[in-house]
Amino acid sequence: MNNYSRRKFLKTGGALLAASSLPISMVEMAFGKDSEQNFTFAYISDSHITQIEGNKFVRNWDRGLIRAVAEANLLDPRPDFVFYGGDIAQLGKPEEIDHGLEILSALRGDVHYVMGEHDYYVDLGEYWQKQLGPDHYSFNHKGVHFVVLNSILTHEEWMHKKWDSGMDRMKQMARLDNPNGQPFMVGDKQRSWLKADLDKVSKDTPVVVFSHSPLQKIYKGWNFWTDDAEQVQALLKPFDKVTVLYGHVHQIQTNQIGNISFHAAMATAWPWPYPSTYTQQESYLPKLTVDMNRADPFFERDATGWQFINLHSGNVDVHYTLPDNEARVVAFDEKLGHPVDTKYQAMADRTSPQKHY
Ligand SMILES: [Fe+2]
Ligand SMILES: [Fe+2]
Repeated sequence: MNNYSRRKFLKTGGALLAASSLPISMVEMAFGKDSEQNFTFAYISDSHITQIEGNKFVRNWDRGLIRAVAEANLLDPRPDFVFYGGDIAQLGKPEEIDHGLEILSALRGDVHYVMGEHDYYVDLGEYWQKQLGPDHYSFNHKGVHFVVLNSILTHEEWMHKKWDSGMDRMKQMARLDNPNGQPFMVGDKQRSWLKADLDKVSKDTPVVVFSHSPLQKIYKGWNFWTDDAEQVQALLKPFDKVTVLYGHVHQIQTNQIGNISFHAAMATAWPWPYPSTYTQQESYLPKLTVDMNRADPFFERDATGWQFINLHSGNVDVHYTLPDNEARVVAFDEKLGHPVDTKYQAMADRTSPQKHY
């Protein structure tokens, strides 16, 4: 992308931003000024399509996804592809997955998917895989190696124990604060696959990993957590530039661990509060995370928004715009070696986040 088209891209994005409050992300892979290799992709996540009965679905979640798809189709320049970050469905029902995929089928161009726990735990991913194929894979695009991991697996014994029904198992996993739930993990099998996959990639190739849960440990009580995160990070450690993009947490999060930058995408359905506002237990929210202001918990689109993500020579800058809040940019600082909030708002200037007990 040259400078002209980059300006055009940002300008177009700004116009769209002003007109909507949609939770879609644009990701720009930049290989330096004027590089022919630069490209963009869009990121949509966590639509949680919910069946009421028959062909009735929760309208608000439908509308969030429909609008994100419509806006993605209007992007100029065209994104090379769209990535979907998981949790198409609320309870993993075939009707919910099909309804979500029908909405997503209106997207122009290729779409890549990662599995969320809400897609998985009713039938252990069988229907999702029937419709969308393997739950982990990799592909190369214009000099970048992309890896997709299923990070929401858990202990085999728990998954296969004698449940009353698959829906019973799903409902254990589809809740926050459930002591009967289990921590997510990538698991031995996929980590062996990942090692073999990465062995074929040169260490100076930018690597982008898509997962549903964060491949870092944030807050276990809500499963903002992947139990074998450190082991996955160790496999990514030899590479010069690594970015992990994830859904699941329905909020803005940024972190840097060693060579790996982490960024979360917002949901099309609803925002989750920050674990730090939860007073009962200690939060492990990463230090670099910048809290969104929660303006109004009764406003259905509060804390959803747009993200523009630029990858400068393999490092990510995320441009966030929130509907009723100040826009902010979390940009990679070459000197500090991690992302920083370039428009940091002092606590006194923020709208206090919602407290919950
Ligand atoms: Fe979700
Ligand atoms: Fe999720």
